[in-house]
Amino acid sequence: MIGLLSYYISEKPNLGTQSLPRFKGKMMVIPENSSIVIFGASGDLTYRKLIPALYHLYANKQLPENFAILGVSRTEYSDESYRDKLKHSLQEMEKTEPATLDAFIDHLHYQAINTSDTADYNKLTARLDQLADKYQFEQRNTLFYLATPPSLYSVIPASLAAHGLNDEQTGWKRLIVEKPFGYDLASARQLDKDIHEHFQEHQIYRIDHYLGKETVQNLLVFRFSNAMFEPLWNRNFIDYVEITGAEFLGVEERGGYYDGSGAMRDMFQNHLLQVLAMVGMEPPAQINADSIRDEVAKVLQCLKPLEEDDLRNNLVLGQYTASDVRGQHLPGYREEHGVAEDSRTETYVGLKAYINNWRWNGVPFYVRTGKRLPTRVTEVVIHFKNTPHPVFGQDAPENKLIIRIQPDEGIQMSFGLKQPGAGFKAKEVKMNFHYADLLETQMLTAYERLLLDALNGDATLFARSDAVEACWKYVQPILDFKQDPQSLFGYACGTWGPKECDDLLQRDGRAWRFPCKNLTDTDYCEL
Ligand code: BG6
Repeated sequence: MIGLLSYYISEKPNLGTQSLPRFKGKMMVIPENSSIVIFGASGDLTYRKLIPALYHLYANKQLPENFAILGVSRTEYSDESYRDKLKHSLQEMEKTEPATLDAFIDHLHYQAINTSDTADYNKLTARLDQLADKYQFEQRNTLFYLATPPSLYSVIPASLAAHGLNDEQTGWKRLIVEKPFGYDLASARQLDKDIHEHFQEHQIYRIDHYLGKETVQNLLVFRFSNAMFEPLWNRNFIDYVEITGAEFLGVEERGGYYDGSGAMRDMFQNHLLQVLAMVGMEPPAQINADSIRDEVAKVLQCLKPLEEDDLRNNLVLGQYTASDVRGQHLPGYREEHGVAEDSRTETYVGLKAYINNWRWNGVPFYVRTGKRLPTRVTEVVIHFKNTPHPVFGQDAPENKLIIRIQPDEGIQMSFGLKQPGAGFKAKEVKMNFHYADLLETQMLTAYERLLLDALNGDATLFARSDAVEACWKYVQPILDFKQDPQSLFGYACGTWGPKECDDLLQRDGRAWRFPCKNLTDTDYCEL
């Protein structure tokens, strides 16, 4: 399988009806020769994420023998000026090796078109023909990456189809669609319908970069490759689950986009619900795209719909306000560039969610995400129930499993041990595993992993239509509720969000874990 563990595998992947990729040497899967067309080629995502990811794949010899990268957008560049621009930005951002960089840059090409004008795509067709000659492609395999504003997500597939660029008779044609996939339930459904008019589901790759993170994938391996945790992974033994996606940064230069989006759409609807699905899903029958995504969709469809009472009592929306943090003055959200002075956009979400199924009935999942919190940390905390009879006293330590997604990736298990000395008092101790301690650390970044998977036709780590719809369906009541004047609380930059979110757990006799940058928080806590 290529979906989950690593690229060092011993057998051919199960790719269903897709053509099988070649294997380089003994283990590594090398994609077939292909063109990679990036729409939005002059945008931030292309510079910051896509080109660096492709460069690394190239430097690690993971790209096809023959490939062309074609940047497409409205801005006029020649191949040379585009190459210069990307070369400089790569040199600024990454450690590059001059010969490798030059060789990589040679694969870059550029075509200006008016992306909103279907007729103008004939320039794209002509350019792809030319590149196919240049690189002597036998098959016209093409990956189209939509790194554009979402307003073009319906337009581009329709225009590609109008020029036959969705036709797989001459080679596969795949479409990667960046988030946000829709703005709400209705628009997500419409977008899905629009794209499906021209591309089939097996051609559509909805990217959620959290699924490309090694440690998010590890949730599955940890759960389903160990006989010792899975028997406890249910309502009989788990008391509650915390999922935290905290960021120290504010909205930076993205105020214009963020103000129309908010934490709910930006982080919760996609990244955090995907993490929740990995924690909550049933074991897949096999490790392949269909089996895994069937289980992801099922668990998301089981989320208990939010009612008026949940919106009022189990949801906390917040917005950061100015404050001095570690000697630095941080402006409030409303003072950020591109943000309306009277904005009511939430930069923080805290929610108590339930999964209505056999495994999880009654177990709360407390989920929170926010900008300008004390530190950047993403983690899942599984709190186990106490022993049935507290023979060592009521204050016996809790059994807790912390699955750290980033940074200081790792796992920490807390349990009770006899406190040395007289009597029988239990004391909490911790066992840690850090990813950094692994010797074979060929860690791909999320974009490297996902680009490679899409080139190899493996959709395991891409969100499927039904799962995306289930997420929107779940959050739609929150999007409606956001309009309510009572719905928003302030919190000072550098704090853990509105105090109302602490109350959410306190009412249940619980408290959030306040995580540090470093996983091991016994001796000191770095923020
Ligand atoms: C993006 C959001 O999808 O994820 C950003 O648009 C957010 O607002 C980012 O900062 C977080 O990603 P990561 O990988 O840094 O946790």
